[in-house]
Amino acid sequence: MRFKNKVAIITGGTGEIGRATAWQLASEGAKVLLADLGADVARVAAELSKDGREVVFCEANVGKESDVIALVKAATDRWGRLDVMVSNAGVPGRGRTNDTPLAEWERILGVNLTGVFLCAKHAHAAMKASGGGAIVNTASIMGVVAVQGAVSYASSKGAVVNMTRATALDYAKDGIRVNAVCPGFMESGMKGLPPGTRADLGDLAARHPLGRLGKPLEVAKAIAFLASDDASFITGHSLLVDGGYVAQ
Ligand SMILES: NC(=O)c1ccc[n+]([C@@H]2O[C@H](COP(=O)([O-])OP(=O)(O)OC[C@H]3O[C@@H](n4cnc5c(N)ncnc54)[C@H](O)[C@@H]3O)[C@@H](O)[C@H]2O)c1
Repeated sequence: MRFKNKVAIITGGTGEIGRATAWQLASEGAKVLLADLGADVARVAAELSKDGREVVFCEANVGKESDVIALVKAATDRWGRLDVMVSNAGVPGRGRTNDTPLAEWERILGVNLTGVFLCAKHAHAAMKASGGGAIVNTASIMGVVAVQGAVSYASSKGAVVNMTRATALDYAKDGIRVNAVCPGFMESGMKGLPPGTRADLGDLAARHPLGRLGKPLEVAKAIAFLASDDASFITGHSLLVDGGYVAQ
């Protein structure tokens, strides 16, 4: 029960990793506000709210500042505090540097980078008022290495890795730790992945020295660790959860 009496926001909450993270944190006592686009988030929050878990929902587009402000307000209005922000919403993208339209670049950075920035920006006051907190950003192995044909996605995730350091420095004196996870390829592809993308990349499982793809709960457990007091002296760190992908 590492999150007893703690309040957490999880963005991208109806996705595979977001849902697993909500399950993990709520199972350890957190009151969770699940955020995502669209009405699905109500259904997912209701599904997770079983066996004593407390999960409520808020429709929010993380790329829109007014939505992020409303999201943080929804948590503090309801529970009076904010301890954990899991900035996990993300969109995939394919395209080489020379054939990526500017609008596509801006769409991907608008969620994967600006969304993470806005969540960190607006979590600050609520966390400071709560006596500190922990932010965990979902980056990717594509924030550390790249594959051909993913310039927008890889750039957005690389920026999240360094934003994690920059924000960690900005917030340290307020007792707010800021870390990231860098998952390898998951068993579940992301929503909106262009058809054929994973096939184009070859045998994905074999690219991971552990010989398989990752499971969302394996990422959720790493997020929970970084969000918990078990990681009380860790800030500015990006933790690979990648079956050894980046080690080779
Ligand atoms: N699946 C993988 O192989 C993989 C690998 C490395 C990193 N990641 C990262 O993990 C995170 C979670 O991805 P996932 O695998 O659970 O994929 P997913 O597609 O299942 O979940 C992503 C969620 O983000 C939501 N979202 C997209 N745009 C949003 C916006 N503007 N505002 C709010 N929510 C928005 C989507 O609706 C979706 O529910 C992402 O940041 C992704 O880049 C995924």
